[in-house]
Amino acid sequence: MAEPQSPTGPLTALRLDDRLRDTKLFFTQAVRTFHATGSVVPSSRALADALAEYVRERPDPGQALRILEAGAGTGAITRGIAAAMGPKDTADLVEANPRFAAHVEDLLGSDPELSAIADRATVHAMLVNDMGTDQAYDVIISGLPFANFTAEQVGEILDHYFTVLRPGGTLSFYGYLYTKEVKAVIARREDYLRQARASWLVQDWIDRYGIRSERVWANVPPAWVHHLRKPA
Ligand SMILES: C[S@@+](CC[C@H](N)C(=O)[O-])C[C@H]1O[C@@H](n2cnc3c(N)ncnc32)[C@H](O)[C@@H]1O
Repeated sequence: MAEPQSPTGPLTALRLDDRLRDTKLFFTQAVRTFHATGSVVPSSRALADALAEYVRERPDPGQALRILEAGAGTGAITRGIAAAMGPKDTADLVEANPRFAAHVEDLLGSDPELSAIADRATVHAMLVNDMGTDQAYDVIISGLPFANFTAEQVGEILDHYFTVLRPGGTLSFYGYLYTKEVKAVIARREDYLRQARASWLVQDWIDRYGIRSERVWANVPPAWVHHLRKPA
């Protein structure tokens, strides 16, 4: 009988083992550094594909894109980006947690999807806002947990993204559905207010630059994906 196929290749026991290994690493790091990690499991493939929309869909099919991924984690979204990349595209993969950064570096040498972009991808073990402003990107994909940050931190990161984004370039990021509502019930007042201020700031950026938003239900937890464009 033919082996079951995933959209990106054979769904072998090895691939399931890889996913389990990534999930275990993600969970153990999330327990240690939940503030920066912001979730307990890696993103789903559906979320990765939604975030990679503007890597897949480009006005000029021959255009070589420079891509920045912020918060690569265990590479869940990187795989969606890799599947959408053209042969001349390049990617900077930035990850603040050195354990995750080393893991993504290993995956570039061993993972079937990620090794396909190994010659065009560079891992940077650092905060994305410490990357400097000498590079310019056509597409930025952010996996950072804005809901865990202060409005000042979110503002600094969004300013950085729009500084290094080329005019006409897109920024795609996500946030989990209903986090504000859940925090209103379970969080301490200061934490609820911190998150409310951060989400008002994010909403202000979406109102100014948003081109499209969509819900992705097939993720734990379900998420909003927002795409913003820097004015040309
Ligand atoms: C919600 S996880 C997303 C991980 C992965 N992209 C995914 O979707 O499964 C957020 C990631 O961002 C990283 N991170 C948090 N703040 C960062 C920053 N300022 N610069 C770079 N990475 C950061 C965390 O270490 C964590 O791996």
